[in-house]
Formats: sequence, structure tokens, C-alpha cells
Amino acid sequence: MIRPLTRRSKQALKTALSTLAQHRNARRRPLPPRLWELEVDAAGHLTLEGHALAELTARWGSPLHVVHAAALRRNARAFLDDEGGPPCEVYYSYKTNPIPGVLRLLHAEGIGAEVISEYELWLALRLGVDPARIVFNGPVKSDASLREAIGRGIALLNANHREELTRIGAVAAELGRRPITGVRVCTSASWGGQFGAPIDGGEALAAIEEACRNPHLDMRALHVHFGAPLRTEEQLRQLLDETLDLAHVAAERFGFELDILDLGGSLAIPTVQALSSKDKRLNMTFLADLPPPDPGRTLEIRAYVRLVRRLVRAGCQRRGLPVPRIVLEPGRALTGNTQLLLTTVHTLKHASNAAPYAILDAGINLAQSVQSEFHQVYAATKMHASNYGSYRLAGPICSPGDVLYWGCTLPELAPGDTLAIMDAGAYFVPFATSFSFPQPAIVLVDDGAVRPLRRAERFEDLVLCDDP
Ligand SMILES: Cc1ncc(COP(=O)(O)O)c(C=O)c1O
Repeated sequence: MIRPLTRRSKQALKTALSTLAQHRNARRRPLPPRLWELEVDAAGHLTLEGHALAELTARWGSPLHVVHAAALRRNARAFLDDEGGPPCEVYYSYKTNPIPGVLRLLHAEGIGAEVISEYELWLALRLGVDPARIVFNGPVKSDASLREAIGRGIALLNANHREELTRIGAVAAELGRRPITGVRVCTSASWGGQFGAPIDGGEALAAIEEACRNPHLDMRALHVHFGAPLRTEEQLRQLLDETLDLAHVAAERFGFELDILDLGGSLAIPTVQALSSKDKRLNMTFLADLPPPDPGRTLEIRAYVRLVRRLVRAGCQRRGLPVPRIVLEPGRALTGNTQLLLTTVHTLKHASNAAPYAILDAGINLAQSVQSEFHQVYAATKMHASNYGSYRLAGPICSPGDVLYWGCTLPELAPGDTLAIMDAGAYFVPFATSFSFPQPAIVLVDDGAVRPLRRAERFEDLVLCDDP
């Protein structure tokens, strides 16, 4: 018979497992800073293009977002790779990191805009993006935004679901235009729910047929967005196989010609990884450090783009389909690793029988994704430290949920230390809230110079819309 553990034996077990976790933590190496083109100077300070990160907060305030222009350009150019054939058409997913300074830089590199709301459409036009370089997606397109998009002749308007086709057709008829239209479809492994028409069960085929028969739509495209971070050739192959099979059936049944294949976003950031519930539990209960991903196991941008082009070509030839134009809408892979968030240890809170809290001036208000993903964290001035400890990294917002990591091995910390949270260029800024603390400034490091992209919010900004 198995007897239940007593409280004392449970505690003893927990202590033993925590000790084990600490030993494992001591052996785990952080990802090397060179992955982000960061260097470590003689004093053990992290630097970017010669600028000590901790000094940037002294000058621009803390917390602080730091965007690296060279990394943005490098990623943009990798997506636009044209070796061996025409490049893919690349539209940045605005919602991923809608900082006008970042968007401008990407547009200057030849990247278009993928927008999913009336606001984002407005922003793209305001930034001077040629309508022919805008793709419009999303489940909520207001009539006003449809009028604007169709009236200006955007590159591609993807219906999120079948029912939307009627509204798009009605606005097109009203304007006497015939927008280039696509239908979003879902494969067996991609996001579904409110997004897209499922291929399985025939909904996608019915939506394509309906779009083809609508005289007000120039139905030419299929749109598919995997959703979860995509890392491997296998995932891509499956996505393409199901989508091209659908195009083939639609061609045979009612003569649909696939002219544009929009493969959405999803390519993963090599240095970020979703946390499993086991990792989270071990982190919370035993302070086991979260395991960093092996960056080599994720397709690099250039390899991904070449693979996409090769697989689409081969897949179409095999099915007797003409090779379509390929559209990509990267978000995280394009900007995720081009930005970092600097935060300061405001105070330490010690506990007699648990790891101390390092209470930071940035928490889930600015870095929500960190709760569900591994992100490398560095102590920006202690890269040569020899004493390490495990810390609970808590944020400032007076909520028990504001803990970034429950255990994170770092050099011995003191108030005033600067931490760098890496890969902050995807879904940090758009998910940030001004929950009790105004949002931070954003600076760009570009060719050795630092310039502001966005000033920090002021208290007045937080009440700007009140009592008009
Ligand atoms: C339609 C569409 N395209 C592109 C993206 C960008 O995705 P990711 O950041 O995973 O590349 C998203 C994100 O949700 C999306 O919904």
C-alpha cells in the first residue's frame, strides 16, 4: 500500500529537488550575447555598437526599449533573399511591433505592410506606404476601412471567413472596383477558431467557390497562417501540402487559378521558445532555470525563404498548377530579435527559506510574453561575475501575477543593476499596458549613434483623453 506523504516528508522532498535543480542551474549556460551582436567589455558590461547598455538607461531612462537597426536590416534583407529566383513579397505584420520608427526602417528596405485593423491601415498610409504594398487581413474590418482599402487599390484583401465575402463584395460594388481578394483557410495544424475557413469538412472550398462566383471580387489568393511558432521543414511541408491540395481541387472543380499564395507569418525566433507546463512547474516549484532553446534547431530566415520557394515550386509542378506569387507576412521572425528591454532592479526582497525577489521596474506590464516564453536575461554590468544566485523576477504593478520568472540564475544582484531582457521586438510593445506606470521610451541604435524613436509616456499622457 502506498502511504500519502506527510507534510514534513513533502517539504524534505521539495528541498532535495530544489537542491538538485540548483546544481543543474549551475551547469546551464546562458545563450551567448554574440547571438544578438552584443559584446562584453573589459569591465564585464554588455555593449551594443560600443554603447554600454546600462549607460543607455542612465541617459534615456529605465525601463527602456533598445532597437538595433543593423539587425532589422539584416533580417529584412534575409526575407527578401532572391538567390536563384524571384524573391517572396514580404509584408510586415504591423501588430507585432507597431513602432513607426521600426516600420519606416523596414519599409525603406522594401518590406510592405500587413495590417489587420482600420487603425493599422491608417498608420501604413500615414507612413507613406504605397497602397499596392499593403495586405489587409483580420476578422474585424469596418466598412470604412474596406472603403479605404478598396478605394485605394491595396495589394491584397484577404477575407477572414466566408461570411465576410458578401460585405467585401458589397463595398466593392458600391465603389465600382474589383479588389484583388484572397480567402483565409485553415489547415489541420494551423490556427482555427475565429480565423479562416477550415479545409477539413469543405468550408474552405465552399468559400473559394463563393468568392470566385462573386462578380465584384477578383478572387486570386489563398491565405494561410500557421499560428504557432514554426521551426521545421516538416511543419512547412504539411502546411503547403494541404493548401496546395486545396488549390488543386478548386482548380479542377471550378477553375480557380491560384495567382497569389499568402503564407502568413509564424516563423519562430531561434532564441525564444514557448514554455511547456512542465518547465513552468519546475521553475515555479524548484526554481529550475527555464531551458534555453537550441537556436540551431530553428530554420533561419534565409533558409526558410529558400525552402518556401523551392517547396511551392515543386508542389505546384507536381499538381500541374502554375507557380503563384508568394506572399509572406512575418512578424516575430523579422523583428523579435532586433530589440531588447532594459529594466532596473528597484529593490530586493529576501525570504528566509526561498529565493529572493528582484523587484524590477518592468514586469508583465511591458513583457507579458515572458510569462509563456523563454527569453534570455542578462545582468548588463555583471557579465564577468563569479557569484550567482537564483532570483524571482517580479515587476512593479502591485499584482501577485506580476512575476516574469519564478527562478532565474543571475549574478548576485543589487538595487540599481540593469537587466536586459532579450528578443523584445515581438508582442512586447503592442501588449504593453500603462497599468500604474507610464510606458518607456524607445531608442534606436543605428550605425553607432543612438536616437529616440518614441519618448517615454508622461503622466499627462495617461489622462489626455479624459474630461475632454
Ligand atoms: C494573419 C497574420 N499574419 C502574420 C502574423 C505574424 O505572425 P508571427 O509574429 O508569428 O510571424 C499574424 C500574427 O498573429 C497573423 O495573424
